[in-house]
Amino acid sequence: MQTNCAIELKNIRKTFGSIVANDEINLQINKGEILCLLGENGSGKTTLMNMLSGIYQPDSGEIFKDGNPVSIRSPRDAYALGIGMIHQHYHLVDVFTAAQNIILGMEDQKLDLGAVNDKVKEICDKYGFHVDPKKKIYDMSVSQKQTIEIVKVLYRGAEILILDEPTAVLTPQETDKLFAVLRNMKKDNKAIVLITHKLAEVLAVSDKVAILRKGKYIGTVNTKDATAQSLTDMMVGRAVKLNIDRPVYDNIHDKLVIKNLTVVDNEGINRLDNVTFTAKAGEILGVAGIAGSGQRELLESITGLYPIKDGSIMFVNEDGSTNELVGKTPMQIRQAGVGMGFVPEDRLGMGLVGSMGMTSNMMLRSWRNGKSIFFNKKSPESLANKVWQDLEVVTPSTEFPVRRMSGGNIQKVLVGREIASSPPVLLTAYAVRGLDINTSYAIYNLLTEQKMRGSAVMYVGEELDVLLELCDRILVLCGGKVSGIVDARKTTKEEIGLLMTTVGGHEGGEK
Ligand SMILES: Nc1ncnc2c1ncn2[C@@H]1O[C@H](COP(=O)(O)OP(=O)(O)OP(=O)(O)O)[C@@H](O)[C@H]1O
Ligand SMILES: [Mg+2]
Repeated sequence: MQTNCAIELKNIRKTFGSIVANDEINLQINKGEILCLLGENGSGKTTLMNMLSGIYQPDSGEIFKDGNPVSIRSPRDAYALGIGMIHQHYHLVDVFTAAQNIILGMEDQKLDLGAVNDKVKEICDKYGFHVDPKKKIYDMSVSQKQTIEIVKVLYRGAEILILDEPTAVLTPQETDKLFAVLRNMKKDNKAIVLITHKLAEVLAVSDKVAILRKGKYIGTVNTKDATAQSLTDMMVGRAVKLNIDRPVYDNIHDKLVIKNLTVVDNEGINRLDNVTFTAKAGEILGVAGIAGSGQRELLESITGLYPIKDGSIMFVNEDGSTNELVGKTPMQIRQAGVGMGFVPEDRLGMGLVGSMGMTSNMMLRSWRNGKSIFFNKKSPESLANKVWQDLEVVTPSTEFPVRRMSGGNIQKVLVGREIASSPPVLLTAYAVRGLDINTSYAIYNLLTEQKMRGSAVMYVGEELDVLLELCDRILVLCGGKVSGIVDARKTTKEEIGLLMTTVGGHEGGEK
């Protein structure tokens, strides 16, 4: 065994009833290295790491720390061995400060806070974090909360850090900051395991990549010898086509005409400022912008979830007549034909019932549509079967409780349901967050399928490469204003990047 091996897993097996989540897995995690753990949704990544953090115990197999066999029966055992995991759902107490959360549950909790603050500051300086120990959790952004979770495990002396999809909730800028911190930890000889579905991140930050497929260990490769294509092929087990077809619909026409839309938040700040554009049937309209530029408010105002101060949102019916949506309730808007495939941070929060299976969850949506405006005439069961097939949902049946599926598979049910309901206007935000690369491409194809049946699709996304390949036009938001609307076939990343940071010549309207 190499001397820099921190943790070794041998023949680890973990089952849940008849589901084999991990099947005889062997894995080596080294000090001074960043190891990415890669695999499709439901391939067993989270389960495997939960056995290192003491949440689950393996059915069989062995774990070695520095060459010695260990047994990890609880998170406390894991901490004692220097293993710390940052989960997808944070375990922070909202009303406590950063410092209080960092020492929460530790035996020496009575430590004076001055000393705690000093130690937190020392950790932050060492690795390049910024934390205000006195700040309350409820005043923090998602990224700040994540930082607290990381500092918490470092405070407990973690030498081995496991991060489960930390970048799924971060902006590109926050991701860069996190990676700078991880690189500093690596220099400090820590062992780091990073789970992410974004191959660009894997290639940029890791030293090695370990691949799981359907619960089995496929192998570990050196990142410098890998490409997005080679990793995808290993992960999926066959050659996968990584490009997006962009057919042209032959009857593009106006569907949603938005004029001078202005919305104000409860602090009186303009979140959307005089926004004017048209979403067209038979097109995918991309929405680009730095996080927090008004993307969320735009989709929420179209669906009636955000109060509108000024402006008009016209829905154009098939016969050419129009319907003003401003002033209507979300239910009335949905009935008018606007469907929203909104993918929230809290996957179980947005209209999925965890204890029910896929079929019942489909019913929830079609039932809410009401009898007369049932967009999709299919029965909930055939909808569930379509989503199951199209997106290869990993579940033993359409009756299996959604809550017990892997994170990405829950998301597939949510997005799949929204798309499968085939509304005339389909709004999506961050639809592929947390989805493996193969499924992401399946989603792009489904959105294109909707466009080719004449739906007006809006796609809010953060990866410029995808926006450029998938969309017909791209609307760029900057500080709540439209800084440009460009032809996706002709524009460049540079042009969009510039529009994201400046409201230039074509302010506030269609070019
Ligand atoms: N508590 C549980 N009960 C039943 N099945 C479970 C449980 N936890 C996980 N599983 C199953 O184990 C398999 C692996 O799930 P896991 O969460 O480890 O996948 P993952 O690789 O992390 O996927 P994702 O990328 O979607 O997060 C899935 O089929 C999942 O449904
Ligand atoms: Mg997972």
